[in-house]
Amino acid sequence: MIYLDNSATTKVLPEIMDTFIAVNEKYWANPSSIHEFGHNTNELLQSAREQVAEILHTSSSKIYFTSGGTESNNLAIFGLANKYKFRGKHILVSKIEHPSVLEAAKQLNTLGFEVEFIPVDSKGIIDLVELQKLLRKETSLVSVMHVNNEIGAIQPIEAISKMVRSNSKAVIHIDAVQSFGKLPIDFKRYDIDALTISSHKIHGLKGSGLLALSKTREVEPMILGGGQEAGIRSGTTPVPLAVCTAKAIRIASASLEKNTTEMKRLTEELVHFLRGFENIKIISPDTRAPHIVTFSVRKVKGEVIINALQKRNVIVSTSSACSSRQTKTSHVLQAMHISDDYIKGVIRLSISSLTTEQEIDTFKKIFTEVINVIKGD
Ligand SMILES: Cc1ncc(COP(=O)(O)O)c(C=O)c1O
Repeated sequence: MIYLDNSATTKVLPEIMDTFIAVNEKYWANPSSIHEFGHNTNELLQSAREQVAEILHTSSSKIYFTSGGTESNNLAIFGLANKYKFRGKHILVSKIEHPSVLEAAKQLNTLGFEVEFIPVDSKGIIDLVELQKLLRKETSLVSVMHVNNEIGAIQPIEAISKMVRSNSKAVIHIDAVQSFGKLPIDFKRYDIDALTISSHKIHGLKGSGLLALSKTREVEPMILGGGQEAGIRSGTTPVPLAVCTAKAIRIASASLEKNTTEMKRLTEELVHFLRGFENIKIISPDTRAPHIVTFSVRKVKGEVIINALQKRNVIVSTSSACSSRQTKTSHVLQAMHISDDYIKGVIRLSISSLTTEQEIDTFKKIFTEVINVIKGD
């Protein structure tokens, strides 16, 4: 199988699977228990937290392990909006956020907050002029994704945070689910307040991830109960998942430069190849993340190509795994004003550090055969 759907999820690394088993075998106590077994398990958990905090340049007390990107984004949107509403109830999120941000933000609208959506240009990049117009003194939260999951557009986080800081007192949340391990991101590099990471996008386990805050920020809890995770996320902390999240983060950040260079080289090869077809339009902007290339075949439905490729053991997707089972048009492509001729034929290729040159060569061969058979309507 040639798997080019790594933005949907990645293959778990064997060393992470080994760690999961080892921690379950040796440290399966409840980390909140006061006996020594619980204490030792808690020490392991705290060391995972410290490792992550060091990589992200924050304090270990600001790392909250969660069930993944969706929960972390919900915690950020609801928890930060509630914590900082004394500064104002005006919230900004971009039009192309992941549904876990967009839907949470829409919900805030029904709870007495005023939510506005920042437009993007035809390349999917946040319009800074529009952002400046939308910012107000009473804007208390701005949430923007670092890399868009459907098209790989990279948002200019530095310019965005500068603009937010000089026009408001808003806290800044970044959904780094698609960027962590592909682009450098931490609290020292960018002047931001909160960061979401999901493990299964970086060869870790599904159902795990975290929300990190910068040293001085706080968040209101969303899940109430026994007060685990410093009272921010109740529920017995799944230590094996947390330890594996820390390991996935360590591996991703240690090999960032090497992986990025190689992924960029392979996706550039793909872009060059796709440009050779006169009925194909590259949707991803030139300033795209190293692992995503999104393109569209004129007047051909994406599903037709996906199914034809699948029959040849090549796995690709429409622009996002979440929306691909729904019939509605992607909100990201709509926000970019992609024309009718191209909007239905969108295909996303997303690679990982495990993708090889040979796989890309085989993809090119199979894709050429498939596209020659499929006719536009
Ligand atoms: C940008 C982005 N944010 C959030 C999520 C949700 O992450 P999870 O699958 O861990 O809930 C995804 C998953 O596709 C994503 O791509």
